[in-house]
Amino acid sequence: MTVQKGYKKRYKTGDTPWDIGKPDFNLVEGVTKHPILACSALDIGCGTGDNSIWLAQNGFQVIGTDTSEIAIQKAKEKASRAGVKCDFRIVDFLENPVKGAPFGFVFDRGCFHSFASEKDRRRFAQNVAAHLEEDGLWLTLAGNADEDRRGPGPPQRTAGEIISAVEPYFMILSLISTHFGSNHPNPPRAWRCLMQKRYAA
Ligand SMILES: C[S@@+](CC[C@H](N)C(=O)[O-])C[C@H]1O[C@@H](n2cnc3c(N)ncnc32)[C@H](O)[C@@H]1O
Repeated sequence: MTVQKGYKKRYKTGDTPWDIGKPDFNLVEGVTKHPILACSALDIGCGTGDNSIWLAQNGFQVIGTDTSEIAIQKAKEKASRAGVKCDFRIVDFLENPVKGAPFGFVFDRGCFHSFASEKDRRRFAQNVAAHLEEDGLWLTLAGNADEDRRGPGPPQRTAGEIISAVEPYFMILSLISTHFGSNHPNPPRAWRCLMQKRYAA
């Protein structure tokens, strides 16, 4: 089963532990501490939209894309309840370009890390670069392989796997060992990687 189909099935059965009903604190910290100024932004694999909505509430013009119809429908409903303008669309980021590029900022929480092959992660990184303006920024939150896992959880990537996929297209500004935002006492360990598009990438 493809990554995309696997997620669609999980939204159908309600098996979505990543869906915490609020923006991830790593996004909030990453944007406010750098700081990343409000601009046009793309949230890849936006799920039910909490991170996109937070960005829009903070002045970003946001497009959120996902392959799950259920997730996009929920995201639209959340934005409408919050009275926030966000453009949510069904787009498979590995297969199709997102209209509206170039963006100043790309965010993804748990989408890039989903791809098990080096080839797909590189393709993902190359596609992100192609959607960014010169000097544009990408913030990714990815599962961290340094966690000694017992039981289920998000995909885990080593720092080396992340670096090897992104480095041809991005300068790494910071790579921080953290944990995912969560409503549970022992959240999964994560990487927070902020990158800047290389010249001519
Ligand atoms: C772990 S979930 C995270 C969802 C959301 N970012 C969040 O934090 O709640 C990963 C998301 O990526 C989406 N996804 C997977 N492959 C994708 C692709 N090729 N294009 C767009 N979205 C994709 C899935 O449908 C899923 O919603």
